[in-house]
Amino acid sequence: MQPSTQEQTDKEKQLAATAAMRWVRDGMVIGLGSGSTAAQFITLLGQELRDGKLRIQATATSVASETLARSFGIPLLEPRRGLRFDLTVDGADELDDQLRLIKGGGGALLREKVLATASDYLLIIADSSKLVPQLGQFPLPLEVVPFALPWVLDAVDALGGAPTVRPDKQNNQEMARTDQGNLLVDCHFKALADPEQLALQLQAIPGIVEHGLFLGLASAVLIGKGEQVVVRKR
Ligand code: 5RP
Repeated sequence: MQPSTQEQTDKEKQLAATAAMRWVRDGMVIGLGSGSTAAQFITLLGQELRDGKLRIQATATSVASETLARSFGIPLLEPRRGLRFDLTVDGADELDDQLRLIKGGGGALLREKVLATASDYLLIIADSSKLVPQLGQFPLPLEVVPFALPWVLDAVDALGGAPTVRPDKQNNQEMARTDQGNLLVDCHFKALADPEQLALQLQAIPGIVEHGLFLGLASAVLIGKGEQVVVRKR
């Protein structure tokens, strides 16, 4: 019997997360990403640590990842000046062959970008569905200060982004909140002809705390594809 698409996707995520362990060295300070693929990596890391095979310290990009890391006893570092990460391992919602990413499907884009920027090496792990010829089919997430929401929606509309405010379906709330208490806006550009230009335009809109375009940040990507892992480096 052929595995279902979901089973295959989960397997590819697992393959990528397992391969990422080869980048981990004893004594490293590691940034922990968010989402289901990153969770698999945190679990593998936690198991090695529990077995006494590894000593690392980490900071997580979301409350969910922090909770998972704590459950394995991974020592967690609070943000502080000068703190840098030898390696951050995170997932992605879309990536192209230039290693440009859309992230934030799980709503953790702000902390993810903070850690990505404070990292010497950003390793992205993903299943093969995430690799696309052009970014933009996946709605581009924005983290937005609540007060600014109406004007941000107007400005993104003017850019052709067809913005929608992300609901919190789990708690049956009209608007989802990030770990920072902000709102999430998803932009439906469909195809991003010039991600760099769009990033500049979004950065110029007051009230947008962060956008989900990660440009020039990824050092390498590990893509689970069938039974293999494809490695792409910058
Ligand atoms: C969260 C993210 C995740 O990395 C992204 O959504 C990928 O998630 P998954 O590994 O579950 O497919 O950016 O903000």
